[in-house]
Amino acid sequence: MQFAHAAPRERLSLDAGWRFLRGDVPLPAIQGHGASYLNAKAGEAQGPANADYDDSDWRRVDLPHDWAVEGPFDAAQNKSQGYRPRGIGWYRRYFTLPASDRGRHIELQFDGVATHSTVWVNGIVVNRNWSGYNGRYIDITPYMRYGAEPNTIAVRVDAEVMEGWWYEGAGIYRHTWLVKRDAMHIATDGIHANPVRKDGRWTLPVTVDVDSSADSARKARLEVSLLDPAGHEVAHAGAPVQVDALGKASARLALAIRNPQPWTLARPALYRVRAVLRDATGELDRDETHTGFRTIRFDADRGFFLNGQPLKLQGVAIHQDHAGVGVAVPDAIWEFRLRQLKSMGVNAVRFAHNAPAAEVLDSADRIGLLVMDENRNFNTSPDYMQQLTWLVKRDRNRPSVILWSIFNEETLQGTEVGYEMARRMVGAIKQLDTTRPVTAAMHGGLFAARSAVQALDVAGINYQVWEYDRFHKMFPHKPVFSSEDTSAFMSRGEYTTDQDKHLVASYDDDAAQWGQTQRGSWKQISARPFLAGSFAWTGLDYRGEPTPHEWPSAGSFFGIMDLCALPKNAYWFRQALWLKDRTVVKVMPHWNWAGKEGQPVKVRVATNAPRVRLVLNGAVIGEQNVDPFDMATFQVPYAPGRLEAVALKDGAEVGRDQVETSGAPARLVLAPDRPALAGDGADAVPVTVSAVDAQGRPVPDANLHVTFDLAGPGAIIGVGNGDPNSHESEKAPERNLYNGLAQVIVQSRRAGQGPLILRAHADGLQSAALALDVRAVAPIPAVAEAEPLVRPAPWRTSPPQADRPDPNRVLADNDMNTWGWGEPPLKQAPDALPWRSYRVAFGLRSDRNDGQARLVMREIAGKAEVWLDGDKLGEKTAYEPGPLTLALPRGPGWRTLTVLVQAQPGQPSGITGDVTIEPHTP
Ligand code: GAL
Repeated sequence: MQFAHAAPRERLSLDAGWRFLRGDVPLPAIQGHGASYLNAKAGEAQGPANADYDDSDWRRVDLPHDWAVEGPFDAAQNKSQGYRPRGIGWYRRYFTLPASDRGRHIELQFDGVATHSTVWVNGIVVNRNWSGYNGRYIDITPYMRYGAEPNTIAVRVDAEVMEGWWYEGAGIYRHTWLVKRDAMHIATDGIHANPVRKDGRWTLPVTVDVDSSADSARKARLEVSLLDPAGHEVAHAGAPVQVDALGKASARLALAIRNPQPWTLARPALYRVRAVLRDATGELDRDETHTGFRTIRFDADRGFFLNGQPLKLQGVAIHQDHAGVGVAVPDAIWEFRLRQLKSMGVNAVRFAHNAPAAEVLDSADRIGLLVMDENRNFNTSPDYMQQLTWLVKRDRNRPSVILWSIFNEETLQGTEVGYEMARRMVGAIKQLDTTRPVTAAMHGGLFAARSAVQALDVAGINYQVWEYDRFHKMFPHKPVFSSEDTSAFMSRGEYTTDQDKHLVASYDDDAAQWGQTQRGSWKQISARPFLAGSFAWTGLDYRGEPTPHEWPSAGSFFGIMDLCALPKNAYWFRQALWLKDRTVVKVMPHWNWAGKEGQPVKVRVATNAPRVRLVLNGAVIGEQNVDPFDMATFQVPYAPGRLEAVALKDGAEVGRDQVETSGAPARLVLAPDRPALAGDGADAVPVTVSAVDAQGRPVPDANLHVTFDLAGPGAIIGVGNGDPNSHESEKAPERNLYNGLAQVIVQSRRAGQGPLILRAHADGLQSAALALDVRAVAPIPAVAEAEPLVRPAPWRTSPPQADRPDPNRVLADNDMNTWGWGEPPLKQAPDALPWRSYRVAFGLRSDRNDGQARLVMREIAGKAEVWLDGDKLGEKTAYEPGPLTLALPRGPGWRTLTVLVQAQPGQPSGITGDVTIEPHTP
């Protein structure tokens, strides 16, 4: 089908308006021929997969959604998953398409569902995906219904299965989309535009994949433009493209560009590449991607180079969960997490051990962070190779991405099998991108006769510091970096390690047996120019892996920042190690040690200054040269008051920091990361909650209970405090401060506007109120939510008969052929035999089974009698085509409807219009 004017592409959010059921629904046992026969037919999936399933009492949820984080902590559950029950859940969503969408290409996209999931559309299974970390693009065009009849999406999510040894969440935890395009259109992730610099000149080779679901071959022209960061077109090229019916084609173009603005970490200039597809009728489709002009190089002796300049990778590895929201992290909170990391001196992020959401990498491209983009499953079977190639196709234009990682710590890494698998995965990547090296994070097997490392461009070594030099010696031509190190422990704001209470002091003295402290690991890395850099485990805390503890600890102690992305002291050590352009000085611990007067307190100063002086209540109590790794440590007899650290260089002060003994908590303070948010139902802001004393000084050991309330166009979507031992609810509007701090995450409402007032209360303290400005913005284009419509099907139609049939005639369970199958309109040509029976069986939703619903038959040609479960419901007495609407009495959920139609002699007859069951609308 072709149209004179194609409608522009629409990428519509499907995040809002889902119905959710936690738990599985046992499918009815299928017995007998009739049920078995039907069960095997397209569109007849059983249970909640069926289009007409009764979901009237399911809970309403919006995506992204993680049901595991809503649940309790349970010692019987898996430690690695944060002692959270996961289980199985179902989601359903209804939507309609206007008749004008007929002929367009309709694609359903899930960006991430944890963990195994099956998707049905209108009762037809359309996709199965056995990973929680990859997106999929499902062509649902053939199954679509247009007009008033809704389409039904059903998703069964099995989160019993695990792919990791960390918290993975449960549910549809990334965005979903419905993309409508012309039948001939630019494929999803179909623009490959990755700048190349050769002999001092830049070119931008562009390949655009075009797909067509049209029913005949079509021709069009592709125009590609390059837009600079200000939006000006700076290059342009065009090429013809021809696609067969249901075919694919690619157009290759090359854009020349002179002196583009480089993408650097300080000024990450992003260029947009726009592809427009046109034919004689006009524009068919357009799509955009972004890219950046930068060069990367790994050198076996000198490490990593960005834009020709050496750059040591100051990296961290992170997982994807955040306080309060689990893995369903709003994009804005992701951006906050990455900004927090960048402020610490991080220049590279390893998304361990899986692909992150596209929006996360968009943030990395935008704010200037390098990315090690990691594949989840080490497996070369087709499903898994598809996950790998999906990742590369999605991310190969991104300036942030500098490494593809095919695995982390695989036991087969040092075997022939590991080599053969790695070789294939590397080969698959090279088919799609030759500009970025392929690596893997290895913890052994590096020197085996056959090893995955032999297939890699760049070697990644996890933890085994003693292998760095040996590797470099044995493989003098292979670049190498520390793909993982550190694994140090720290509890934010704690200064005494207490095994019984599961507390680890914050001086950076404790690490896992296989790891090193923050300071110790960087000392090893920075001493070796051949090492391209490091990825410290971990930039942020995550749930699961409560090493070195177990229950009741449920989250990690490894984070340089806590689960709220609030700095632990490790943050300041990293700043002191990593920031070169300004003085860092941070004195620890806090100075609230009532009862310890006169006793020595260990004081450590994190600083990049060469010398530091300590001043207590105005008196100099010590001065030390600073070791750039160990930094400076003092023992100070405690006296309340003010402890100052003065950073010195050549005898002059270059910075200072202080801690001060506070009084009792007197009032609460709410500090948002940003003062305003977009009223689009997606934007979210983390708000830090703290307590101060009567003089306004922070109270670092306040651990009091705070309750919250919110008024205005938004909601509290989660709370946290960074305490890995806490079992408080992450969804209730209350939280204890943990060593002085907690976090509330506030999200705007769709079409929101005006002040959002967050209040915090604690017994005996002055409350805090914060006004956030929710700004009216254009709504995120979205698919409207539709109501379910019961449209019984499939119908069976008897052969024509001379006499009125018996409405209660029983059709043999195995008779699949005497009566035909179909859906209205069921129109019969004039026949000498005037009578026919039409029959349908259907399940009735409980919200239609209230005695108020109506059976609406939009048109019947002929006289008709309507029978329901053996009782006559009503009749149509005229021959002329016309509607019939009947009240539907309450009854069992499963109904059999029989319609006897008597044709007017010589006229067509039948159920010639739609039949639906609709709620009573007064
Ligand atoms: C590594 C592993 C990480 C994490 C870490 C904890 O072996 O790659 O995922 O488990 O240990 O120290």
